[in-house]
Amino acid sequence: MARPHIEPYVELDAPFKKFDLNGFKGSHYKVLSLDTDTGACTLKVRFDGGFKRKAGMSYSDMEFFVLNGGVKVGNEVWGEGHYAFVPAGQHLGAMSVPKGAEALVMFNDSEPSFVESDRNHQLALTESFNSFNAYNDAPWGPGNLVSPSVATGVGIKILHYDVLTQAITFLYYMSPEFQQNNISYHDCAEESYHIWGASWMMQFGDLPTGGYFWRPPYIDHGAFKCKLGCIAVGRTDSKLHNYFHFNPWANPDENKMRAAAHLYRQRPQLYEWAASDGHNHPHGPPDFEHQHYHDDAQVRHLHNHAPVGVKEGTQKAPKKKSRR
Ligand SMILES: [Fe+2]
Repeated sequence: MARPHIEPYVELDAPFKKFDLNGFKGSHYKVLSLDTDTGACTLKVRFDGGFKRKAGMSYSDMEFFVLNGGVKVGNEVWGEGHYAFVPAGQHLGAMSVPKGAEALVMFNDSEPSFVESDRNHQLALTESFNSFNAYNDAPWGPGNLVSPSVATGVGIKILHYDVLTQAITFLYYMSPEFQQNNISYHDCAEESYHIWGASWMMQFGDLPTGGYFWRPPYIDHGAFKCKLGCIAVGRTDSKLHNYFHFNPWANPDENKMRAAAHLYRQRPQLYEWAASDGHNHPHGPPDFEHQHYHDDAQVRHLHNHAPVGVKEGTQKAPKKKSRR
């Protein structure tokens, strides 16, 4: 069971709850989305002034985006707009929040966890760690970084890119008076949090400041409008391909069929092979370049699979083998 469709959701008026978990005491949280099977979730967290915790790591990949305030992490100060991708098992330095801060905190593989440690887990994929200010230290690119492209008037900054699944985390804006008159859907789940500003969608209406959605694959969204501009954090769980059309009555099953028809026309040999009988690769076919990709946490997560050799649903094993 993946995360359910939540759209639109505006978190600003929802109350925070006390975060009574080791490593998070002294903070409060709101759940924006949750996979009830794995515990993977996106939270808005309020760190109260005086929050402190020792150096440590999580068993899940974690993404952290500072919405306001400042967080001291080791020798760094993460101010407004700071983004970090922290792979499972990578330790962060001691954290302190002198005056309070709010952040989006995403645990992509499993429930929030914290283990005190001053070193990395031996299997941590530390090369995927990234920490920088998304407002100041990354350039805007055009919306057509993803092609087929959204209409002119969207800018994108890539914050994180998973080389195996092509999942991306990004900052995006819609310019004032942005309009796009077609309908889109994707093969990936798509997530967004509006840091500032409102946009409008034909199916779901206005998404204001504090607006959020977790949208499973193949759900129609658009046409779009944005009167005064907006800026948001977006994320996908795999490759973002824009399928466009103009049929407001299309449902997800029809959209899936249409996506498969694209594959049939454009990659016919692959379609024929994948659709034919006689394969037995429940964890994915062999890949001579990435021999251990079956055991990558993100890939397993997308297919609801336990690691190879582990009975499904019985154990969470750490990731192993570098993906580069
Ligand atoms: Fe989309």
